Amino acid sequence: MKRHFRVWRGDAGGGDLRDFEVEVNEGEVVLDIIHRLQATQAPDLACRWNCKAGKCGSCSMEINGKPRLGCMTRMSTFAENELITITPIRTFPVIRDLVTDVSFNYEKARETPAFAPPSGVAPGDYRMQQVDVERSQEFRKCIECFLCQNTCHVIRDHDENKPAFSGPRSFIRAAELDMHPLDSRSDRKEYAQASQGLGYCNITKCCTEVCPEHIQITDNAIIPMKERVVDRRYDPLVWLGRKILRRDQLETRPAPSSVAAPPSSARLPASAAVGPDGHMDIAELTAPLQGGPSPFGDDLTFPIAPEELLYNHPDKGNKP
Ligand code: SF4
Ligand code: SF4
Ligand code: FES
Repeated sequence: MKRHFRVWRGDAGGGDLRDFEVEVNEGEVVLDIIHRLQATQAPDLACRWNCKAGKCGSCSMEINGKPRLGCMTRMSTFAENELITITPIRTFPVIRDLVTDVSFNYEKARETPAFAPPSGVAPGDYRMQQVDVERSQEFRKCIECFLCQNTCHVIRDHDENKPAFSGPRSFIRAAELDMHPLDSRSDRKEYAQASQGLGYCNITKCCTEVCPEHIQITDNAIIPMKERVVDRRYDPLVWLGRKILRRDQLETRPAPSSVAAPPSSARLPASAAVGPDGHMDIAELTAPLQGGPSPFGDDLTFPIAPEELLYNHPDKGNKP
């Protein structure tokens, strides 16, 4: 059965919507239709894709105005006589047809300070509680489709905000590192506020709505970070503590406005030791977890009481 599609064709110099009648078969997705269009009527139609399984994040586009993955949008979700309009994601400059230049997102990723390994704990001795692993697991599902970045109104129609705003994809990375028990930086939230533009976000949740991985970007990353920035800034005890600690912190921590170098005490990653037979020592894999030194010091007992946990468990949905 033939269906009516309207596809944007053009490049950085301009373009317009072109109409096509394309055969659609049962079970197909929008990306199938684009492939058929390329095979039959528009061999030079540019479209980025790789996996066709919702995992590479390449085929981001706007379908009837909604930011979506072409490979995960079933044709059966549209009415039979519905006109389907396919346009490139709007927040980033068009290269050609449906392909946009998303390098903005990689530049922002480069600006985010990397994981800072703990001092005094060798790679291989890192230990994390399962609850900590699960908490950040939600953010690691990100496939970098940048649909959230494309949707965020702070930059969608406001190129002028781009230098100051890193966007929701960067915020979930900052939140993931902030809640990482082995990350030795303690200024992730302050960095997000001062240098990544966290304050521009007014928690409209549009980014969460379009995320194909169903990451609760706003509830589980942005709001907890915002709350804790506010806590630190306005809690009188925290304020006093920061005043007292500031001198030490300034001496050891790089300025948040620069791209962070690892702390001077950080260990460089080293490959695992192997024995004369060329095999790894399996004691590392079989030793009880308690055998490793705690990166938290000796004054913390596990499990941590739920009311003392500062972040939501992804499974729990809303904040406690
Ligand atoms: S919640 Fe914040 S980051 Fe997400 S779309 Fe809205 S303003 Fe942008
Ligand atoms: S957070 Fe979701 S919408 Fe944003 S880039 Fe990652 S997978 Fe895509
Ligand atoms: S082609 Fe990989 S997510 Fe669509």
